[in-house]
Amino acid sequence: METLLTSLHNGILTITINRPDKLNALNSTVLTELNNAIDDVYWNSDVHGVILTGAGPKSFVAGADITEFMKLSNEEGALLAKRGQDIFFKLENCPKPVIAAVNGFALGGGCELAMSCHIRMASSNAKFGQPEVNLGIIPGYGGTQRLAQLVGKGKAMELILSANMIDANQALHLGLVNHVTEPDQLIPETEKLLATILSKSPMAVSKAIEAINAGFTHEVNGYNEEIRLFGDCTGTEEMTEGVAAFLEKRKADFRKSK
Ligand code: COA
Repeated sequence: METLLTSLHNGILTITINRPDKLNALNSTVLTELNNAIDDVYWNSDVHGVILTGAGPKSFVAGADITEFMKLSNEEGALLAKRGQDIFFKLENCPKPVIAAVNGFALGGGCELAMSCHIRMASSNAKFGQPEVNLGIIPGYGGTQRLAQLVGKGKAMELILSANMIDANQALHLGLVNHVTEPDQLIPETEKLLATILSKSPMAVSKAIEAINAGFTHEVNGYNEEIRLFGDCTGTEEMTEGVAAFLEKRKADFRKSK
């Protein structure tokens, strides 16, 4: 694979998103390879559980790859959101436990990816946020729904509307992550928790995942609305300004043409 590293030890598959020079941003190739890797987890009986992390010391995943946004029409935007949501649903509904080991920035699609995992471990240098409104879009990979599920509606509103970033301890306080560790303890502590889970009945663990997820299926319409509204944002003047500003390394001026 071009953008993922994998290693399998004692039934634990570690998947590392490997584009450190782009802070592991989720481009189309990463999404395709992640989708294939998750399929493999479903059927490969040698894989008992998964750790998902990012390459390098700085970032888990700094979001969807913004360079792929510029030319998106409304329809293409909605399709992109649907594709990401489908892959993240597959991860969330994986019958084997999946833990995100968040080793740095988890922004936008990166925060959404972490939230699709069953459990989140964060290193003390991790940073979380949904900065999409800086770009003239909204979270499109399930973030409007899962963030509200994890931290409550009010805090989700604040984080998504302000695009403010929070650190690992704030994320712990909000319930966005389960534990915070020193950076060098992130993978050992994640492996320890996963090994505990893997010592339990695999059948019962998979049924528990299914049962917990079943409690949230009523929000399925929220996910559909997210796709439609993400599509409404793409291809607009404001999104074009937001994305151009990021690529040109300047602050966006969304009101200049109003
Ligand atoms: N998509 C595409 N490229 C990205 C990216 C993304 N989401 N996030 C970072 N990169 C790229 C940068 O463009 C830069 O590439 P370059 O070296 O070719 O210029 C490289 O990764 C390193 O990022 P840089 O911005 O130089 O690092 P930094 O430490 O100054 O800032 C962040 C780190 C995370 C604050 C900043 O990269 C950022 O704001 N990224 C976008 C986050 C975002 O909006 N995500 C949601 C997307 S929907």
